[in-house]
Amino acid sequence: MRLILVGPPGAGKGTQAVHLASNFSIPHISTGDIFRFNIKGETELGLLAKSYMDKGNLVPDSVTNDMVKDRLTHPDTKNGFLLDGYPRNIEQADFLANVLKENGTPLDAVLEFSLENAEIIKRLAGRRVCRGCGATSHVEFDKPKVSGICDACGGELYQRDDDKEEVIANRLAVYAEQTAPIINYYKQAGILKTISAVGEVSDIAARAIAALK
Ligand code: AP5
Repeated sequence: MRLILVGPPGAGKGTQAVHLASNFSIPHISTGDIFRFNIKGETELGLLAKSYMDKGNLVPDSVTNDMVKDRLTHPDTKNGFLLDGYPRNIEQADFLANVLKENGTPLDAVLEFSLENAEIIKRLAGRRVCRGCGATSHVEFDKPKVSGICDACGGELYQRDDDKEEVIANRLAVYAEQTAPIINYYKQAGILKTISAVGEVSDIAARAIAALK
């Protein structure tokens, strides 16, 4: 299965990616996670990415495209992959199309998650991420057993800088202006599937798997 997840920030792509990657036995490739890993390691890429991410803007295509192209050469992508957060504009979608054409590995599906802005804001404002393993939780919808501590590894939970209210508004605007056009791009290609991202995580996962069958 070669799959892309698309949807506004906070729609639950990362949460669902964990279920889908396990169900289809494919690697979960999140460009946001790769950038955050580099920020944590204080690499050159991390420093550059941070200057864009903290404002809710896209990291330049010149950096992001080559990073994904390289990731798709790793052996774990031989039987497929799940891209989460990439592509994020028409230029990235065109770039990916060329890479996949060269590799002879066409996409099977693009799964869109739809959710109202009011719910998105609640999800983002309450999200907490583990400094240790990167697992995601929520202060209201997916509470850890001990406040501030990751259930999975015991690491410290923190709020992403781009989940602060003032940055969320720009991320939503960037999504509407730059990312939303790729939905029509993949609709025209005949591989778009859209599901509602409202409800329990397990119900949405079942909906996603049914849509991909
Ligand atoms: P990225 O990390 O990709 O962020 P995003 O797309 O904005 O998506 P999020 O991670 O915020 O949300 P999600 O949909 O994964 O939701 P989640 O499952 O966590 O990108 C960050 C930045 O990196 C970008 O702004 C950009 O600067 C840069 N970047 C990344 N890719 C790039 C690219 N291709 N090009 C250029 N720049 C790029 O869920 C959210 C919360 O809701 C969680 O707390 C979760 O517990 C909760 N939740 C999930 N499902 C439910 C549910 N069903 N009910 C209740 N709560 C739920």
